[in-house]
Amino acid sequence: MIGVLVSGEGSNLQALIDAGLSIACVASNKDGVRALERARAAGIPTRVFPLEHYTDRAHRDSELADWLQLRGVDLVVLAGYMHLLTEPFLERFPDRIVNVHPSLLPEFPGKQAIVDALDAGVATTGVTVHYVDDGIDTGRVIRQVPVPVDPKETLVDRIHAVEHRLLPEVVRELCAAH
Ligand code: GRF
Repeated sequence: MIGVLVSGEGSNLQALIDAGLSIACVASNKDGVRALERARAAGIPTRVFPLEHYTDRAHRDSELADWLQLRGVDLVVLAGYMHLLTEPFLERFPDRIVNVHPSLLPEFPGKQAIVDALDAGVATTGVTVHYVDDGIDTGRVIRQVPVPVDPKETLVDRIHAVEHRLLPEVVRELCAAH
């Protein structure tokens, strides 16, 4: 079963839902985000784990892992989840946490990947789906798709379109291979 972690808009969550993948539950670090509305509209159980409610990040992450495992989750998908995960979470899902990132990693890790690619003046950027470790977008790459930077006006939309195709495809394969 798939568990999805979100923090914002949730367009990648929507792509997973639309692909018909069986999502057990959706967790967010932030309340009131559009991703939670999308999950609820699809009848998927949700819960918010705000960092402020816990003594520290490790404590929050271990409660989050408990919640996911109680719901049968054995594959965790980060779909725009904006917090780093700590060891108490990572050790519960070895090689079973994946993230989608809007660049060709290891180029342009971090929150501003598309802006950074534009600022750097590269001709090609892209999308990466990768395993998650304790670094910022440093885990082993599973699949990458290049995207030409030009025309720049449509770059963001074209990157998102690739994400919405690639993430469900890789997730489906990881489910089948398990
Ligand atoms: C996506 O661009 C993803 O690559 C990055 O955060 C963004 C999330 O968008 N990690 P959404 O919340 O899925 O719409």
